[in-house]
Amino acid sequence: MKIAFVQIYPEFGQIEKNVNRAIAFMQSMPADIYVLPELFATGYVFESRAELMSLAEPAESGFTAVTLGQFARANNAGIVYGFPEKAPDGLFNSCAFVDGINRPVVYRKLHLFYKEKQLFDPGNTRLKIVHFREARLGMMICFDWIFPEVARRLALMGAQVICHPVNLVMPYCQNAMTTRSIENRVFTITANRIGVENRGGLECRFTGQSQVTDCKGNVLYCASSDKEETFVADINVVDADDKNINELNNIWEDRRIDFLEPGDR
Ligand code: ACM
Repeated sequence: MKIAFVQIYPEFGQIEKNVNRAIAFMQSMPADIYVLPELFATGYVFESRAELMSLAEPAESGFTAVTLGQFARANNAGIVYGFPEKAPDGLFNSCAFVDGINRPVVYRKLHLFYKEKQLFDPGNTRLKIVHFREARLGMMICFDWIFPEVARRLALMGAQVICHPVNLVMPYCQNAMTTRSIENRVFTITANRIGVENRGGLECRFTGQSQVTDCKGNVLYCASSDKEETFVADINVVDADDKNINELNNIWEDRRIDFLEPGDR
């Protein structure tokens, strides 16, 4: 199965332009599953909740969902992408999986980073597994990486590939995702953006280096920190179903959860 990330430099507030740009990159690289960055169509540094609200979209009927769904359907692909979600119960930093056939599957970021806490509502959806052809996909968003229980829970729920839209400004995530792959024996694909946003007194420099790691922790590719690019990895998703490290160690069976939960909180 071919999994791809798209690393782009979004132009703040230009939803249509950014969606079309991402589509042009996807068109240039045939794949089965694409992962786009967090908030890839809007940009990241919102000056106020009102501005965020003006750029947020409903998960099913928004321009981004509909346009990506059409691309996915026409190309027999699935796409995971980040977007600001306008919902009846709040305003969320969300990602969705679309295939253009089924309703989008939405995950709302559980762990908000820094000023996101002043703009978004904290996610209120549970972690989900998406079944797409022969693959089982998990979704998490950016700062969720620093909470290893997110990837662990997704892996325990059966995820073979963790799709991870991000807007990274710190340098630690790529190493952490290698570890998430090693400790859970899953593929991870982190799609970051590049460029700078300086708005309302906050400057964010996004670090690129989108990365694909296999289920043994080998980095298959790490992108540049300053160029737009797409990368496709051809993987066997079933490799992630083997949780044996050797003939005596199995990472699921060897867990000592009886001594670790729940008394150690
Ligand atoms: C982040 O969660 N966007 C760092």
